[in-house]
Amino acid sequence: MPTPENISFCAGTLREGQLVAFPTETVYGLGADATQDRAMAAIFEAKGRPSFNPLIVHVPDMESADALVTLDERAMALAEAFWPGPLTLVLPRRSSCSVSLLASAGLDTLAVRIPAHPVARRLLQETGRPIAAPSANRSGAVSPTTPLHVAESLAGRIPYILADGRASMGLESTVLDLSGPSLGLLRPGHILREQLEALIGPVSLPESSDTQAPRAPGQLASHYAPSIPVRLNATSVQAGEALLAFGPGLVPGHPVTHLNLSDQGDLNEAAANLFAMLRALDTPDHTAIAVTPIPDTGLGIAINDRLRRAAAPRS
Ligand code: TXA
Ligand code: MG
Repeated sequence: MPTPENISFCAGTLREGQLVAFPTETVYGLGADATQDRAMAAIFEAKGRPSFNPLIVHVPDMESADALVTLDERAMALAEAFWPGPLTLVLPRRSSCSVSLLASAGLDTLAVRIPAHPVARRLLQETGRPIAAPSANRSGAVSPTTPLHVAESLAGRIPYILADGRASMGLESTVLDLSGPSLGLLRPGHILREQLEALIGPVSLPESSDTQAPRAPGQLASHYAPSIPVRLNATSVQAGEALLAFGPGLVPGHPVTHLNLSDQGDLNEAAANLFAMLRALDTPDHTAIAVTPIPDTGLGIAINDRLRRAAAPRS
């Protein structure tokens, strides 16, 4: 756990316009003061991220969110139920919104979330500014769930990592677009579609085809991609492959390396392990990563979403 002094130091660093990677309950974020254009440009630069992909802005409380975006009744109901937590809402920017237009990538909307992680919350409170934070990895790579992953991805590109062990949830937040007439789930996550619909009615699913101008880069076909092929729904292992299994079942074949997302078949455990295990198996010792089927229900929907992108050919 970082000391209060470390957190204050990083808050000062952020206010100066520099980048700080910090822990959230979902994945590590690459933070910068969202009110500074140059700090936003520095995020896109460090990540190698196309600047047409907008960023999530993190705030410590409802007042701070309300200063940036228009919260309608649906947003209020969702915020009440799920904030702080792994839900991002895309909402209309207020004309008085202090956030750099670069964070919105030219859209008239802004993605906002109040994270639950105590270090993130304290950092946000101390910084006193909205903090834009994409996942702290190079664009297109697997999201980081430990400080070591951040260092592997961004060493030499960012001055500080506020380290606090492993991110407990392991998958990025659910992203819901509330800005248009039809509500769209832009990215599945821990907060399930059913949970959203129970409060605000029907929510449409992300489009399966993402060839043109995605609303969210999480929608790009190839995202979260390891450097070796990922083979989904494997029922046996081929020579040279690593096995990423789920649950207690036996898989025929002789994997070079064998990891299990959850021996018990627990989807929460699998979500928390997913990115770290993909990274661990992404080595030249393996020709590919064979992944056994994962139930497409509940949190399995978000896990399968990330796996499909990891398996998609790189464009
Ligand atoms: O769990 C998370 O959300 C993590 C932690 C650090 O908070 N952050 C994260 O950020 O995953 P990033 O940049 O990797 O993903 C942000 C997602 C992208 O799919 C992006 O396109 C979408 O949110 N997004 C951001 N602003 C948007 C907007 N105005 N309209 C539509 N989508 C937006
Ligand atoms: Mg990301």
